Amino acid sequence: MSKWTGKEIREAFLKFFEDKGHLRVKSSPLIPKNDPTLLFTNAGMVQFKDYFLGKEKPPFKRATSCQKCMRAGGKHNDLENVGKTGRHHTFFEMLGNFSFGDYFKKEAIEFAWELVTKVFKLPEERLYVSVYEKDDEAFEIWNKVIGLPENKIYRLGEKDNFWAMGDTGPCGPCSEIYYDRGEEFACGENCEIGTCDCDRYLEIWNLVFMQYERDESGKLTPLAHPSIDTGMGLERIASVLQNVPSNYETDLIFPLVKWASDLSGIPYGKDEKSSTSMRVIADHLRALVFLIADGVLPSNEGRGYVLRRIIRRASRHGRLLGIEKPFLYRGIEKVIEIMGDVYPEIVENKELIKKVALKEEERFSRTLERGLYILQELIEKLKSNGEDTIPGEEVFKLYDTFGFPLDLILEVANDENLKVDVAGFEKLLAEQKERARKAWKGGVQKVISPELQKLSEESPSIFIGYDHLEGIGKVTGILKGENLVEEVKEGEEAIIILDKTPFYPEKGGQVGDTGIIEGSNCYCEVLDTQNITENLIGHQATVKRGIIKVGDVVNAIVNEERRKAIMRAHTATHLLHKALREVLGNHVKQAGSLVLPDRLRFDFTHFEAPTEEELRAVEETVYDWILKNYPVKVEEMSYDEALERGAIALFGEKYGDVVRVVDVGGVSIELCGGTHVERSGDIGFFKLTSESSISSGTRRVEAVVGKEAFNYVEEKENLIKNLRKVLQSPEEQLLQKLQKLKEELKEKERELEKVRRKLATAEVNQIVENAPVINGIKVVTAKLDGFGGKELAEVADVIRNKAGTAAVMLVGIKDGKASLLIALTKDLTDRFKAGEIIKEIAPILEGRGGGRPDMAQGGVQNLTRLEEAFSEFRKNFEN
Ligand code: ALA
Repeated sequence: MSKWTGKEIREAFLKFFEDKGHLRVKSSPLIPKNDPTLLFTNAGMVQFKDYFLGKEKPPFKRATSCQKCMRAGGKHNDLENVGKTGRHHTFFEMLGNFSFGDYFKKEAIEFAWELVTKVFKLPEERLYVSVYEKDDEAFEIWNKVIGLPENKIYRLGEKDNFWAMGDTGPCGPCSEIYYDRGEEFACGENCEIGTCDCDRYLEIWNLVFMQYERDESGKLTPLAHPSIDTGMGLERIASVLQNVPSNYETDLIFPLVKWASDLSGIPYGKDEKSSTSMRVIADHLRALVFLIADGVLPSNEGRGYVLRRIIRRASRHGRLLGIEKPFLYRGIEKVIEIMGDVYPEIVENKELIKKVALKEEERFSRTLERGLYILQELIEKLKSNGEDTIPGEEVFKLYDTFGFPLDLILEVANDENLKVDVAGFEKLLAEQKERARKAWKGGVQKVISPELQKLSEESPSIFIGYDHLEGIGKVTGILKGENLVEEVKEGEEAIIILDKTPFYPEKGGQVGDTGIIEGSNCYCEVLDTQNITENLIGHQATVKRGIIKVGDVVNAIVNEERRKAIMRAHTATHLLHKALREVLGNHVKQAGSLVLPDRLRFDFTHFEAPTEEELRAVEETVYDWILKNYPVKVEEMSYDEALERGAIALFGEKYGDVVRVVDVGGVSIELCGGTHVERSGDIGFFKLTSESSISSGTRRVEAVVGKEAFNYVEEKENLIKNLRKVLQSPEEQLLQKLQKLKEELKEKERELEKVRRKLATAEVNQIVENAPVINGIKVVTAKLDGFGGKELAEVADVIRNKAGTAAVMLVGIKDGKASLLIALTKDLTDRFKAGEIIKEIAPILEGRGGGRPDMAQGGVQNLTRLEEAFSEFRKNFEN
């Protein structure tokens, strides 16, 4: 067999299928587009899912690709196997060929066989295949058309030979090609395809005959057009063609293993444990580079959590190799060297990837140090009590309060031969989630009665508020509490439902409208508007005069001034979102938003606090766009068309087929259902008012626009006016004046300090004079208010210099903290040790301490037994 580089294999595969009429398609991102059912792209077919399902018509019938894949979390999860075997990865590349209702089993098998035997020239005697046990057709093709003997074709069950992308979606029976690496790789005598899962028979290619769609209940429906989806792991076939024992020794990964080995100074292969760590680091390094390049940032849930786990796991394996400092960011260049030419996104995002990896590793170091310390103390306690299990509550505490990952707790416990009450932990975790869920109150009515459901289906409310702020509507329902009623009277509160309304119900961060509903017999004030079901808009109203009845025709009038202020804030939010991406980078994603009258709050993903300059640049960018007075265009179009135009869609949000696109002068294009101003200039003025962190990796900014921005500036102006008055200084000299005052104050403090010390010295002199002499030792004990540890040490020195042979115990109190000090003159230290005495004395005051024979210090908590402590101290010298 000739040797192939990884790059040559990738190219040969794609070229082979191109020559057979397949269109070469680029890899899609690791985050599946518009598919909340999937955590990550886990196979080559993911980007073609809708073609298989017949939901979309493919523009081509045959395709081939080399797809970036992640298998960590979700249905196909290899995270735990990484490093332990030589063939599992979180991130890997999948080569594939696809037919969308074009060729089927026979050609798929023929193509595969030709590529494997004629192009890659794998020796036929080493090749085996498997088919789904009920798939006689595939069996026949291998046997009759290809000519493979029956004993080389294995019939296997659903677990091995029925492939599905996820719990729902396209699926079908499959046929796999195996390569026999030889007896030396066998796990035992009974090593055989389908019975064991060792490294001897390597699955190199999976041919899936896509025939069904599985729904949520598990039911299979045949697809209109049977199709082909195949997958060959690039790293695996490389290990075969390069004749190396595992994927990790191929040219695609080995430079990373070697890098980890060099960094630790341990040769690869020295022992199983260190080699596993190097493999984990190599795998996870690739994964983190590609995940961050595709926009994932570390967080505590979903994709971000997988990334966090991966970085933390790699970091921990670094520690196991003796690498103590954050190091992963230094390996990023290596990944880029190997794959940057094929995947430009990792080159473009190099700096971002480095920053994120370093930050996360640093954060993890802090967590680890704290957590490991606490865990170790806990383990010691459990062991000394003769217990063998870490209780669920303790695990939960470590996890929840200290952010210490469960898998690490399990590993440490394993090293210490302890069990972990995982079930107990999970129960607590579930309870916490439930509490969080209950604390959340959505706008949509929780209890939907059958009548309400009927109303919702039969007469949905039509929203006319994009173009009108006033309109005629008919009352279709009135909700009082959870009940539908016929009428409400003066003084009563209720939720009024209209068939048509200009009132915007709270949605997408934009608050609900307020205003008036007025009829010939009633006048109601609307305090808020919310969706009560997906179809029904409810006006939370108080009847001020008269009676309102179901069937009444009313005039609904939105509070125009307030709504216009909301529109200003909403359009400004879009500009802000875009400006943040321009200034901080495209990894910035909206994580939440609140749009109020002339005020807004915007949460977004970013890994560190933006600098002052960055924030100023954001502000200025937004303001420039306001001054350009761009037109705001709102259009409806298909989701794909919107994405093609570059619209920002919110991650995790489900969109319908037709979406509403808000385009501000071509600079900001977003999918949005909210209400907006007509031109960017209508926003008037924009000012950021605060920036903060709300959780790791998520920042929050707040801003004001329009009238509120005016108020904000006025407030600042008033502040300056008042400062001028108080400081009696013109505006341009305010700063100087303040600085001068500050310096004067410092000087005064220094003077005060001097006086205080003089007084204290006098006090100390007094104490020393009055102190008893026990067996020739002056034993000084005192409590000094306003003295911290440092000052106590100074006083102790003064006393020791003065008093000849002396033993000193001082307790000081400063800033609400009590410190303890014990000092001895040098001539005593062969008989007494301050460091030991303090260990006896400190516990009397509920504290701890330690130190040298002549000087020891510590902190204490409770001074009620101070006299007793003093007398215990004196006893040391009494006989
Ligand atoms: N989609 C198939 C797999 O991932 C080819 O194995």
